[in-house]
Amino acid sequence: PRPRIVPPAPPAAALVPAPAGPKAAGPAREKIGGPGAAGLGDAYFKDAGNGGYDVSHYDVALTYDAGSRGVAATVTITAKATEDLSAFNLDFRGPKIVKTLVGGRPAARSRKGQELTLTPAAPLRAGRAFTAVVQYAGRPGPVRAGSLGTYGWVPTKDGAIVVAEPDGAPTWLPVNDHPRDKATYAFHVKVPNGLRALANGKPAGSVRKGGATTYHWRETSPMASYLAMVAIGKFQVRTGRAGKIPVITAVDPKYAADAKRLQSTTVAALKWEQKVFGRYPFATSGGIVDDPRLDYALESQERPVYAGFAPDEEFVVHELAHQWFGDSVSLSRWQDIWLNEGFATYAEWLWQERGHADTAKGIYDRYYRQPADSPIFSPPPGRPGRSSLFGFSVYIRGAMALQALRQRVGDKAFFTILKRWAATRAGGSATTPEFAALAEKVSGKKLDRLFQVWLYQSGKPRKW
Ligand code: ARG
Ligand code: ZN
Repeated sequence: PRPRIVPPAPPAAALVPAPAGPKAAGPAREKIGGPGAAGLGDAYFKDAGNGGYDVSHYDVALTYDAGSRGVAATVTITAKATEDLSAFNLDFRGPKIVKTLVGGRPAARSRKGQELTLTPAAPLRAGRAFTAVVQYAGRPGPVRAGSLGTYGWVPTKDGAIVVAEPDGAPTWLPVNDHPRDKATYAFHVKVPNGLRALANGKPAGSVRKGGATTYHWRETSPMASYLAMVAIGKFQVRTGRAGKIPVITAVDPKYAADAKRLQSTTVAALKWEQKVFGRYPFATSGGIVDDPRLDYALESQERPVYAGFAPDEEFVVHELAHQWFGDSVSLSRWQDIWLNEGFATYAEWLWQERGHADTAKGIYDRYYRQPADSPIFSPPPGRPGRSSLFGFSVYIRGAMALQALRQRVGDKAFFTILKRWAATRAGGSATTPEFAALAEKVSGKKLDRLFQVWLYQSGKPRKW
């Protein structure tokens, strides 16, 4: 073997292009950091979210063109690197990108599937705040994913509506698409005069200039990306209050006859839920009824969307319960979806109980008498799998699990658990084991078997 001799560093002038090959990385320079991970390791959505940074704010400036039904958007992301990064990913399945900047300087980009990789001119050091700008233009469209239905950016007769759960936000936003990375949002949506734009949170004014009006909205509480919403089109808008909370509802003109009822039901449900779940976690509330017949609703933060129907009381109660359970206390992993849907369904049962129409126990008993092979029992709601995220068992057996808990610990402890879960986890993300731990702490009872049987065991729960 030849002796190992360390060659002297070449003078700068002697730098010649490196020979072609896998190591040909151009002039040598200190390598700082590596690329951030392309996913956050969610078992159900492996591409969802990205590693290496934390987003604090999205500024979304979007112009809607009624003629082409397309948009031109500039999204500015404020984030902090959590490791040294030579490059990082965003999730984006939207139209053609025209420009990308990081820290105000042009950044190289590449796209593969829903992964958009940005390579800044200089690496980002861990702990440093930075901005990333993505400009794009074209016609976004929804995801159509079998049992999960149609979701994301959905064109309507007179505009568009966003309902993005679970992984539809990248249809229109370059985003770190996981509920574990919540952020605040500002929306500036420019539409032709005659149309309107609504979004999450509080209105921050509108500015008319020439043939167009820009509507500004602000979501000042941390929000999961699937809850980010804009609604563009013709709307009848009502504003009111539930106590001190401004309530803004809007309906497509097709639902004009339901506008007043949507507003009053929203106010009534919100007042009651504050008594049951504790302080409302956000600045405003409301709801939107728009025309695409998706036949489901989404608990968009501060302003749920009912897609293709005027909701009855239970539906409104369900979506508003999500404001506490799902929106304020978010998921850390999609597998725990029953923490959203079981709780919101249980809120419907409590609403029945409040009106003396029924009791939660009565509803539970009737479901429990269903045959063991009923789809309300399978798959187990604590591990439903990606395709049954919104299946019957997540909603119904998930709510039954809460009734079983209530019967075990008694009303006093049960309602303390609900309130404390909402209060102590407000604005964050949490898991099923964390909920079980809180329930044990508040009740002083050992509940591992109850949760095991109700959430994870196959078939109809028998003994717990
Ligand atoms: N979280 C919504 C609700 O229960 C359901 C969302 C369904 N999403 C979907 N892509 N099908 O209110
Ligand atoms: Zn729900």
